[in-house]
Amino acid sequence: MPELDLPQRQVTDALMLTGYWYRALPADRVRRNQLTKSTLLELPLVIGRDRPGQPFALRDSCPHRGMPLHGGKFDGENLECPYHGWQFDVHNGQCELIPSLTSDQNLRIDRIYAGSYPCEERDSFIWVFIPDPGPPGAGFTKPSEAPDTAPQIEKFSEKYKSAYLQAEMPVSIDHGIIGLMDPAHGPFVHQAWWWRSRHSIHEKKKNFEPIPNGFRMSAHTPSSNSAPYKLLRLYADADSITTTIDFVLPNIRTETIRAGKYWFSSLTTVTPITRSRCRIDVVACWNLFRWMPFGPELLKFVFAKFVEQDRRTMEMQAEGLAHNPHLMLIDDADRPAKWYFQLKAAHLEAKRTGTPMKHPMSGPVTLKWRS
Ligand code: FES
Ligand SMILES: [Fe+2]
Repeated sequence: MPELDLPQRQVTDALMLTGYWYRALPADRVRRNQLTKSTLLELPLVIGRDRPGQPFALRDSCPHRGMPLHGGKFDGENLECPYHGWQFDVHNGQCELIPSLTSDQNLRIDRIYAGSYPCEERDSFIWVFIPDPGPPGAGFTKPSEAPDTAPQIEKFSEKYKSAYLQAEMPVSIDHGIIGLMDPAHGPFVHQAWWWRSRHSIHEKKKNFEPIPNGFRMSAHTPSSNSAPYKLLRLYADADSITTTIDFVLPNIRTETIRAGKYWFSSLTTVTPITRSRCRIDVVACWNLFRWMPFGPELLKFVFAKFVEQDRRTMEMQAEGLAHNPHLMLIDDADRPAKWYFQLKAAHLEAKRTGTPMKHPMSGPVTLKWRS
């Protein structure tokens, strides 16, 4: 069907996709023998580390009478509910003890579970797998297994530096994600004398191609209107710099920059906390400027500035969104946003029908916009 030159009306459903890994907390905030609260996709979780340091994630609600477990006693192995002292194995959630039972009461306590979730530590974060909602039977469901391991950042050398940052935003996952992939806000939101001004706006042409569960902005030499890239080319003594930016469902944006033997790699996620709140987590690894004493700090400063500009913008946008549930998506600048909604719909349809997902893109596409 040919696309008309009319803006497309789009209603965001803020639907949060299950069956995926999500970043829950920075790993350095989860200490041994301690419990930390976290919310993912409106699910209350309690996250901790056992005595050897292995992380775990349980539903923060006792299967007995719903008491939050994060206030319980944790000895590095079992977690004891603060209400009636039921004890659970933190890794599989299995009930180990019900203190009120007398010796002749033979309740099968090993069939009771506090919901537990697959949990992995990767690149400075604790990731939790949120399964599709299972059949009802709260308190008796065994832990589900993740079909794959948590996503990780691609690295191209043994030695590298890394840093992370995060920002919480009062908008739904959909707005968080399309804000992340939106190319047209740059000149207006991300102005800085060392980066660019709104007057540097010019026409751009980028190639996109479909990849499983998402799309890729194909490798290219980054736009020359930003000073840092010019500097990088000089420093790396590289003929070309290639950048690849991928987006894959449910919420992952990876960016890889390679210039000769130098590289920079980042994995950004937008995580739904509730239907109306999300959090952006950026983790970056690089081997550039490793010799520079202020390298990591400088990079972190630049990123923090961008993320803060985005956060402030979305905070203001949330005010308007409260009154206008529709969006208008225009070509070509908002095409990635359209693909995101189409991918999500195609994914849900495939799940519903049990058939392979039909990718909304049939092949490579070149998009043009001014930014
Ligand atoms: S509510 Fe947890 S033991 Fe009763
Ligand atoms: Fe931005």
